[in-house]
Amino acid sequence: MKKQPIGVFDSGLGGLTILNALHRELPHEDLIYFGDTANVPYGSKSKAAVTKFSLAIARFLESLGVKLIVVACNTASAQALAELRRRISVPVMGVIEPGAERAAQTSRNGRIAVLGTEGTVKSNAYPKAILKRSPQARIIQQACPLFVPLVEENWGKKPAAELIAREYMARVQKSGADTVILGCTHYPILKPVLRKILGKHVTLVDSADTLAQAARAFLTARGQAAAQGKGCVRLYASDDPARFKRLAGYLLPGKIGAVRLKKLDL
Ligand code: DGL
Repeated sequence: MKKQPIGVFDSGLGGLTILNALHRELPHEDLIYFGDTANVPYGSKSKAAVTKFSLAIARFLESLGVKLIVVACNTASAQALAELRRRISVPVMGVIEPGAERAAQTSRNGRIAVLGTEGTVKSNAYPKAILKRSPQARIIQQACPLFVPLVEENWGKKPAAELIAREYMARVQKSGADTVILGCTHYPILKPVLRKILGKHVTLVDSADTLAQAARAFLTARGQAAAQGKGCVRLYASDDPARFKRLAGYLLPGKIGAVRLKKLDL
């Protein structure tokens, strides 16, 4: 069991930020990453569609013998996690609970803002998870649909990114939130501009680090964590692996290995 890989999936590229964090936190684990580039974006799709794609990916990862599936996508975690846990036989971990836990522990004034895709915001998954831990918390949610294309175009450092972020952050600043959840795979890339706008007194909760720590704790508690060897990474995309590889260079430090094509059985 210790030698079996961990499966990680996302609607596309953004989950590479989580893959990266998992690789740092669990350097001995083999990781298999699936980016659903044929069906991205999930953020503006229905719950039924997101669940169908997520189930097909999870079944593929299960067929490769993974010991744990990490849903790196916030939208899929928010909308499909319960169904995945019902239908898939290996444990499935999402990004919402670890992010909510961290935010609830971090906030001093009980005011928390959640940034996410339209799908994540509509699901109310983060507020529900935060209120379970901090019933008094005051939560606002802000959908930031333009952030994903900005990151994918590698425009995170351009003035346009700051202009757009200022629009989205106006409500967040007005709310007095001292903790902001970056509830989408792509948003950690925009940390510098968000930090500039929100200031140092606001804590940005990055779902990548929190999830990686939760995955380590989970495997260690079950005696399933790999303890030796250098973990390797295998990448799959459901469409245009060459484009995936090129854009992945914006998100990941270091060299990107081969990306294999795997069409989903939907
Ligand atoms: N991966 C998605 C998320 O974390 C963002 C991109 C998309 O909309 O598919 O919510």
